[in-house]
Amino acid sequence: MTAAAPEPKANMGQPVPRYDAVAKVTGRATYGSDMPLDNPAYAFLVTSAIARGRIDSFDLDDAKRVRGVIDIVTHENAPDLKESKLFSNGGYAGTTIQPLKSADIAHDGEIIAVVIAESYEAAREAANRVKISYSAVTPSASFDSPGTTKAAAKGQNAQFKEDPKVGDFAKAFGEAEVQLTASYETPTQHHNPMELFSTSCAWMGDTLVIYEPSQYVYGLKNGVAEQLGIDADKVRVVNPYVGGGFGSRGSMTPRTAIIAGIAKRLNRPIKLVPTRDQGFTIATYRAETRHEIRLGASRDGKLIALRHEGTEVSSRADPYCVGGTKTTTRLYACPNVDSLVSIVRADRNTPGFMRSPPEVPYLFALESAMDELAVKLNMDPVELRRVNDTTNEPIGGKPYTSRSLMACFDQAAKAFGWAQRSAAPKSMSDGDWLIGYGCAATCYPTQMAPAAARVRLQRDGRTRVEIAGHEIGTGAYTILAQTAAERLGVPLEKVAVFIGDSDLPPGPVAGGSNSTASTCSAVMMVCDQVRQRLFKALMPNESLADKAKETVGMGQTPSTEAARSDRRLDLEKAFDALGAGVVEEYGEWKPEGAPLDSFKAMHSGHARLVGGAAMKDKIAYAFGAEFVEVRVNRFTREIRAPRLVGAFAAGRIMNPRTARSQLMGGLIWGMSSALLEATEIDERTARYVNDNFADYLVPVNADVPGVEVILLSEQDDHINPAGAKGLGELANVGTNAAICNAIYHATGQRVRKLPVRLENIE
Ligand code: MOS
Repeated sequence: MTAAAPEPKANMGQPVPRYDAVAKVTGRATYGSDMPLDNPAYAFLVTSAIARGRIDSFDLDDAKRVRGVIDIVTHENAPDLKESKLFSNGGYAGTTIQPLKSADIAHDGEIIAVVIAESYEAAREAANRVKISYSAVTPSASFDSPGTTKAAAKGQNAQFKEDPKVGDFAKAFGEAEVQLTASYETPTQHHNPMELFSTSCAWMGDTLVIYEPSQYVYGLKNGVAEQLGIDADKVRVVNPYVGGGFGSRGSMTPRTAIIAGIAKRLNRPIKLVPTRDQGFTIATYRAETRHEIRLGASRDGKLIALRHEGTEVSSRADPYCVGGTKTTTRLYACPNVDSLVSIVRADRNTPGFMRSPPEVPYLFALESAMDELAVKLNMDPVELRRVNDTTNEPIGGKPYTSRSLMACFDQAAKAFGWAQRSAAPKSMSDGDWLIGYGCAATCYPTQMAPAAARVRLQRDGRTRVEIAGHEIGTGAYTILAQTAAERLGVPLEKVAVFIGDSDLPPGPVAGGSNSTASTCSAVMMVCDQVRQRLFKALMPNESLADKAKETVGMGQTPSTEAARSDRRLDLEKAFDALGAGVVEEYGEWKPEGAPLDSFKAMHSGHARLVGGAAMKDKIAYAFGAEFVEVRVNRFTREIRAPRLVGAFAAGRIMNPRTARSQLMGGLIWGMSSALLEATEIDERTARYVNDNFADYLVPVNADVPGVEVILLSEQDDHINPAGAKGLGELANVGTNAAICNAIYHATGQRVRKLPVRLENIE
């Protein structure tokens, strides 16, 4: 594995080092719980030890005897909070289960008391001394538990609007020369970002400041204001750095308004840092799914019938679902398609977005089935994808704005050495190790949201970019600085970026891999406003639009010192003509197809993503192909994945260094998902068993000796002004299937349930 940043190709930005690298490695980056507060009190959560039932009584005497305890808040004395709707149903919340409302308990690990004390240690000690008497009811843990209910997703969840269908699946499947029916399962998984689910709430008069890792500061600000019943202008969320998100911080959790309400009552700032295990139940997670795939094909491999049925688990309270059929029914050419997504309700906390939420489980099923079909057809799995490649999605016939799927397959296959594979299962080995090669497609919708930005340019070239975006480790600071530098023609070192603060112009949720496309498009637009002001001053008689085009534009970077100094001269002359030292512009950008009320929604934290399969006359996805080598020990069945190779095309790559880092992380997470990660649920109690890093397995460096990321050139002028497709969630989609396909090749055994561990191979 090489650590060098990839050289940029056509339509790529420079691989400049991270804007925030030094701050992060020197500890100067301040995360939520690092923020200094004036005389804070500390909170510690008490969470439920049962998954369903009620609290009969608390015995708080012993807890109150701990020196330094200030207050113990239960449902009997909790702040009165208003309800918030589920994010996917037009609200802000990741769950509508509101703790501390009553004695009722809806899931394992629900917050049932909050201890406030003068120190973290005192709060923790007192929390451990809280005694609770419960009346427990037998809970339903998951799919097969008695007492669950199952219903179609359509109609329950505003974000799941249709079960895509076209043609006559039943007839075509019945007539197909080759048929495949197979069922697949994926487990519960938890995000486990490094930064815990902390919050710090400080009131300054009637204004609340929240320091908290969030992927959507405008959503959190508006959501907490709604719960507290105060004006949103009275709430500010600050998080210049977020220690990982992966979807877990996209919507509001109940903890924030609870802590804010207690802080108001006590008239003291409160800092809450929950524990790792509490993070499993006070935030969201990826729920387990089940799938049945049916594929009908002709002998030459052409798909003529495809059906995908998905079933997902959610809580009793909320109809959360990911509904990945919107992608799997559109990935390959096929005239007869059917699908159905259902939700099973159990006594669980509400699941939520987790890195490529729909695509990870649903493409695992489809891409495993494609491999099984290739085996049935005695066909190379890459060629099966080629035969079914398409320029138009089959449901509505809309054209892909660009689609480099097969180019990705070809480049990754070459780099991997796919041609050296002998097709028969169990035909490759090295000593005690059976060797398997496998591959799968990966894809992720290109999504965008409205975004606003403010850009200030000074005569000396110093530039300030402001947008309430989020640095969740992706490189947001870096690419925003690059975008402004490039668009204004100023040196990168002169650009300062301010994000992670709801007092800044509204940015989108850092989710759905939309941030780069949306924030860079907004910043480009506002940089153009700045430039036009200067051109107007310099050349009042010339067409502004024409002049603007002459300066550095999309896809160009200052390559020589001469070019740089030319532009610097222009700048000084322009400022002289303007007679001012500073130009500042604000602008609001919205993607094509965004609803009319987008800007209003953007300010109220309600903005929704557009793009992907939901566009009117086109469909936009980023694509990739992933190849893996697995080694399965002949005797112990130990499974290793020594080589992961992925090739990806995602429109303009803003920065090949940060892009590679995202994609590498995705490949590693994909491997982890295939071989390691699963949250185990005790069927009897509906409680999570392995809610810690000792038992919830994640990979270490030794698990991923070889990871290769190939970035393809791809220009797409039909998606957004930045020309960028999101890639943050692109890489971990295909890896699950690629690994299972490789395990089949190594062992001849098809494993259809994740994760695959040595006990799953005979
Ligand atoms: Mo991503 S799961 O949309 O943060």
